[in-house]
Amino acid sequence: MDSKKLLSLYLLCFSLLPELYGVVWVSAGGGAHREQRRSQSLGGGELSDSNPRKMFVFGDSYVDTGNNRKPAAKSWQYPYGITFPGKPTGRFSDGRVLTDYLAKYLKVKSPIPYKWRKVGFGLGQLKYGMNFAYGGTGVFNTFVTSPNMSTQIDFLQQLVGESTFTGRDLLSSVALVSLAGNDYSVYQATNGSPQGWQPFITKVVNQLEVNLRRIHGLGVPKIVVTALEPLGCLPSTTVASSFQQCNSTQNQLVNFHNLLLQQSVAKLNSEVKDPSASTFILLDLYSSFMAALNNKVDQLGNVKFENPMKPCCVGISSEYACGSVGANGEKKYTICEDPGAAFFWDEVHPTQYGWYAVYSALQANLKQL
Ligand SMILES: *[C@@H]1O[C@H](CO)[C@@H](O)[C@H](O)[C@H]1NC(C)=O
Ligand SMILES: *[C@@H]1O[C@H](CO)[C@@H](O)[C@H](O)[C@H]1NC(C)=O
Repeated sequence: MDSKKLLSLYLLCFSLLPELYGVVWVSAGGGAHREQRRSQSLGGGELSDSNPRKMFVFGDSYVDTGNNRKPAAKSWQYPYGITFPGKPTGRFSDGRVLTDYLAKYLKVKSPIPYKWRKVGFGLGQLKYGMNFAYGGTGVFNTFVTSPNMSTQIDFLQQLVGESTFTGRDLLSSVALVSLAGNDYSVYQATNGSPQGWQPFITKVVNQLEVNLRRIHGLGVPKIVVTALEPLGCLPSTTVASSFQQCNSTQNQLVNFHNLLLQQSVAKLNSEVKDPSASTFILLDLYSSFMAALNNKVDQLGNVKFENPMKPCCVGISSEYACGSVGANGEKKYTICEDPGAAFFWDEVHPTQYGWYAVYSALQANLKQL
């Protein structure tokens, strides 16, 4: 893989001002998001204040809400955040990401990023947990600015050691763990031989299993882990076919990863004493992305995408990506008219509306929580 591609993969990867954490689900903004508002009202319940469930979030850009370096990371630059809250917040999207939707499901505020913990402490925002995810992370080392998942778990362990979070806090918590494929991007961009894929995938899932077991060992009773999304359908891949065709070779590897992960989750659940509770829950991003890409997410209303494979924000040529600017600050990318009609925001990340569609498709899956 050439350096341009590597650069675009780097984006998979790669920063809210603390005050934003007080503002969740107030308005979804923009007419295209009527379904979202509707689901909000369907969602019912108020934020419960006394002892809300906490969220601890680990992983990469699919769940990072601002840990990445400001202002260097793309996620801290225009046009990221234009839909919500109207400026960049460190999310790799035009608005909300998976974390925000899971928080909504749990009726809590999106937890404060680890990076902003000192500010959040003063604002009493630690009661919703904390987000340790960094865009670009894998289970193994990927990019120097992205602490791997083991290091992110170390961060939580340190905070427990310092009594920032207590055992009781952990008991009322849910962990969200995202592995969206950075280990694989790096493998492919560096030494990756075709025969090496299966052993490497096995190694990645084994390490993920170790991480999940460790999070549970810290006292977190519910752990949600994402299945890998269809990498072969991401715009970074489908650009080769003008956003028409998913790469089935890549998706077969993704299916192998997901099969191993499913086995790991079953094994982890069987190790847990209480068989009535699903402790480890696999969040099926593969099927939910596919449902959205095939315009088959319909339970909650009319979630529809005009051309779901085509990203909203794209570089004017292959040298540029969403958000790139030239030497004189001139834009080197274009943005679609309505991000609320696009599934993908940039070459690897869904729009807020895309995440909403995924969240809608995951409703049955989330009932296990
Ligand atoms: C995670 O990063 C730390 C610090 O760089 C390193 O010591 C550790 O070996 C890494 N863990 C894995 C599983 O790669
Ligand atoms: C699909 O991806 C594989 C692995 O990255 C690549 O070798 C192959 O050329 C791609 N196929 C098509 C049709 O683009």
